[in-house]
Amino acid sequence: MKSTEIDRAAAALANASRVFVITGAGISAESGIPTFRGVDGLWRSFSAFDLATPEAFERDPVLVWEWYLWRRGIVSQAKPNAAHLILAEWEKRFPHFLIGTQNVDRLHQRAGSRSIVEIHGNILESRCATTGRVFKGDEINISVDQLPPRSPAGGLLRPNVVWFGEMLPAAPLKVIDKFFADGKPDITFIIGTTGVLMYIQSLVTTACAEGSLIVEINPEETAVTLWADIALRGTACAILTALNESLPPQRA
Ligand code: OAD
Repeated sequence: MKSTEIDRAAAALANASRVFVITGAGISAESGIPTFRGVDGLWRSFSAFDLATPEAFERDPVLVWEWYLWRRGIVSQAKPNAAHLILAEWEKRFPHFLIGTQNVDRLHQRAGSRSIVEIHGNILESRCATTGRVFKGDEINISVDQLPPRSPAGGLLRPNVVWFGEMLPAAPLKVIDKFFADGKPDITFIIGTTGVLMYIQSLVTTACAEGSLIVEINPEETAVTLWADIALRGTACAILTALNESLPPQRA
């Protein structure tokens, strides 16, 4: 990658007031969390149909829970990486800043991000399949020996994530809609996602139609590269570090 592309993105970023960031599994890859569609991606070894659909849960909630507890274990061991940390810093630097993440791993929040919405839920929480009540990870102890877990009221608990075939939760989408309604993002980053989901593509096309500068950060070409004004090829940690170092120092 030519450093001029980093410089071009950094120059635009330095003057930005509204910054919108879309993240996917690739941003957590350098924290040791497997992606879904890469060479070692989860969907290469596991069937989404058997593990990540409402029908799968209805058929075999124990199997689904075993898989989610295994992934919870990986997420709990992982630490935020340089990319998560830089985005958390940028939130303080730019007047209007929002991350919309597809990730369920909470690493953005653990890095310090607060202006963030999770559009696929969060793997550390569970939800009563009957009442919809959400339980934080530390509120209910879920043991692999006692699956499937139940709420104190006796309802079947499920991971608080979005499965294939389910609607995206309304609350985070409203936050994103409001961010766009309040003003066009000067710059939109798409980081570490294949961008195959329709909702992500609609966000990118909306940002593009509104005249936002679209910057993709990904080692590979993706389904949304077509809309990128600048495609920065490399890992999230390497590229965000380079971009961050190219920004002028912040005024006190
Ligand atoms: P994918 O696994 O589809 O894509 C990961 C992307 O990250 C790929 O484009 C990789 O090239 C890129 N990548 C890999 N390592 C990287 C690194 N170090 N830095 C930057 N990029 C890197 O993951 P998502 O696009 O997030 O949904 O997947 C979207 C959704 O599909 C997920 O949220 C999940 C999945 O099925 C559900 O489970 C509902």
